[in-house]
Amino acid sequence: MGTMTDTTTDPPHGASPWELDLWSHLTSHVEAERGLLEKYSAVAEQSESKAFSYLVNLLIEDEVRHHRMFTELAKSLKTEAEMRRENPIIPYMDFVHADRAAVLDATKQLLASEGQDARELKRLQRELRDVKDTTLWSLLVDLMQRDTQKHIAILRFVRKHAGRKSVL
Ligand SMILES: [Fe+2]
Ligand SMILES: [Fe+2]
Repeated sequence: MGTMTDTTTDPPHGASPWELDLWSHLTSHVEAERGLLEKYSAVAEQSESKAFSYLVNLLIEDEVRHHRMFTELAKSLKTEAEMRRENPIIPYMDFVHADRAAVLDATKQLLASEGQDARELKRLQRELRDVKDTTLWSLLVDLMQRDTQKHIAILRFVRKHAGRKSVL
């Protein structure tokens, strides 16, 4: 990867000590994740077990996303610290400037769907009880249950913050 030409690896100019500290934390994590990702890829390619490779590939999907998120955090911090007149990659919390009622309404509907999804996954998990030690299926449903909890956490965050009156 062309780190030499990658200006995003330079620390932000005029950053506060807190920002510099966070910057080095974020960028060192990006590096660590990259190393982990290479390790995972090698393991997935070398294994003779299709099941193991399949599962490691699921981890790789997550790690690729983590890598992207950390990079976006670092870039946004840089945009912020350098007080550039551009929108950061991770947007500002603009819920209160948007149509709050529309945001809250959509959030409410999505939360209801996720709740229903959670109940269905729970039922499916019960149906898979007999094969939970002989197939990967139950594990996959377990992962989707965890994802559903994550989706609910995201939507609750939106509900909490879009529901607030502007403090600006
Ligand atoms: Fe990670
Ligand atoms: Fe979901």
